[in-house]
Amino acid sequence: GLLMKGVRHLSDSGITRLPDRYILPAPDRPGAAAVWSSSPPPPRPISTGTGRVKLPVVDLACLRDPSQRAAVLGTLDAACRDYGFFQVVNHGVGRDVTGGMLDVARRFFELPLSERSRYMSADVRAKVRYGTSFNQAKDAVLCWRDFLKLVCQPLQEVAPCWPREPAELRDVASAYAAATHGVFLELMDAALEALLGGAAVPAMRTMMGELAAPGGSSQMMTLNCYPACPQPELTLGMPPHSDYGLLTLVLQDHVEGLQVMTQDGRWLTVDPIPGAFVVNVGDHLEIYSNGRYKSVLHRVRVNSTRPRISVASFHSLPAQRVVGPAPELIDDEAGNPRRYMDTDFATFLAYLASADGNNKTFLHSRK
Ligand code: SIN
Ligand code: FE2
Repeated sequence: GLLMKGVRHLSDSGITRLPDRYILPAPDRPGAAAVWSSSPPPPRPISTGTGRVKLPVVDLACLRDPSQRAAVLGTLDAACRDYGFFQVVNHGVGRDVTGGMLDVARRFFELPLSERSRYMSADVRAKVRYGTSFNQAKDAVLCWRDFLKLVCQPLQEVAPCWPREPAELRDVASAYAAATHGVFLELMDAALEALLGGAAVPAMRTMMGELAAPGGSSQMMTLNCYPACPQPELTLGMPPHSDYGLLTLVLQDHVEGLQVMTQDGRWLTVDPIPGAFVVNVGDHLEIYSNGRYKSVLHRVRVNSTRPRISVASFHSLPAQRVVGPAPELIDDEAGNPRRYMDTDFATFLAYLASADGNNKTFLHSRK
């Protein structure tokens, strides 16, 4: 029915009013004042002189330069504490790879519905899954998004299960997945150095060795399609949520839509920077950092004229691996007690399946 056909199909059919099942209650609509404004002090905004606040930018070329590394680590550390988000530029992943990925994603969603729907699955663990909304099985109100989820590891084994159309998808998405995994490792190395101190710290070497080993990390991608929406002020492309893993790398096209909640409870729109990665801290990194780094709420707005494409690459430890705060970051005497329980992917899935399970409150359940 309407549900499984998704929003691309609805948009293409030329509707002029938003169907009821996409209409959010008034307090949840994008224009409503945010309700999470709570205790922490506001972050130090980076003023652009135009009154518009921007996310911190991490330049990977400077991070790789020994004379500039310490300064970039400072920027990264502040971004992970104050925003939970930053943009990454000069990462060395070619524009052929990033542009090719966005292009093949766009062309996948242009395929006839009959071709896309071959990959529909109710199984959330499927290696390839085409779907719509956010969490189709649970959403009371549907979101204005269609997606293709691709499990990316082990890459050589899973890529042959990915869609055969468009013909370039497997090659382009494999190259993109390998490139983002490399950037993920480099950013984790930097984040751990900022958290734990120099690269000589044993805990850091152990964690990086684990993540870089075959089977030592998990990766999944979602290709997102947000078609033009007839009444964008009544719905969202994605509801407010936090991400589960260590780090997420998002590639967005030239259309804005992603919004990040700031510490004073306002929504900050992430400026599209062509070819850049928008990177955010996930629940696992918040837990591992014992709360120093923040896994923050974010959402996606849609608009009435410009379809938007994004690709999110989710990186974490393997599903069975238990994650807890790094012992090096716990110090009861210094007033820094353990702030989170240990967790793993099975606990998260059980939580999602529970009566009130959603990402927004999972982290809370681990406190
Ligand atoms: C997300 O994965 O949370 C957002 C992706 C996007 O910007 O569309
Ligand atoms: Fe997300």
